[in-house]
Amino acid sequence: MTKKQRSKKKNSTNTSNEARTASRPWFLKRAIPEIRLISGLKAGVFEASRDKLAIFTGSAGETMKMGARFAKKLKKGDVVCLAGELGAGKTTFTKGLAKGLGINKMITSPTFVIMREYPLGPGRGKFCHIDLYRISENDFLTSGLDQYMNENNICVVEWPEKINGILPKNRIDIRVFTGKDNSRKFEVITHDSRD
Ligand SMILES: Nc1ncnc2c1ncn2[C@@H]1O[C@H](COP(=O)(O)OP(=O)(O)O)[C@@H](O)[C@H]1O
Ligand SMILES: [Mg+2]
Repeated sequence: MTKKQRSKKKNSTNTSNEARTASRPWFLKRAIPEIRLISGLKAGVFEASRDKLAIFTGSAGETMKMGARFAKKLKKGDVVCLAGELGAGKTTFTKGLAKGLGINKMITSPTFVIMREYPLGPGRGKFCHIDLYRISENDFLTSGLDQYMNENNICVVEWPEKINGILPKNRIDIRVFTGKDNSRKFEVITHDSRD
């Protein structure tokens, strides 16, 4: 068997679920074999449609790992909106994203400073972690922080509903739902096409 055939066989085993057709969501496409490896049976990714999927995790550690995997698919200019109640796991997921982007610094919640920025390296812009829990859309605009959502940076916004009116159209929306026994569901909706 050639290397190509082996890889084809491996992929078909990993994605044998009938629902996974050629039009898989962009994150699922490559991530599923890795996710199974890193998190056993507890975590998983399920598709609903081309641009909608759900990530299930059973612990904060799994959420971070999922975040790190997810980050590999992010590109400059992306805005990831993380909605969900206090303690849902938005910051935990963000920590994973940062790790996946190669940021080794400790990510702490920016609730009191609204925004923390982390350089991603030469020519790669910044990773901006914005937490709008304490401010309004108007305060956000007057603070000038909206300037950080540009084509050079990758931004994560917690409590994005606070600035609904100024969120970019092409964004990734994630809503976090809290379940029993540390389980969480991250519902991901993408508004642009990805490969
Ligand atoms: N599956 C899970 N995913 C994320 N966090 C979890 C999970 N299970 C338990 N937790 C805990 O829930 C809390 C989430 O906090 P945090 O990420 O700061 O939430 P948020 O930013 O949404 O307010 C943390 O204490 C974390 O350890
Ligand atoms: Mg938070």
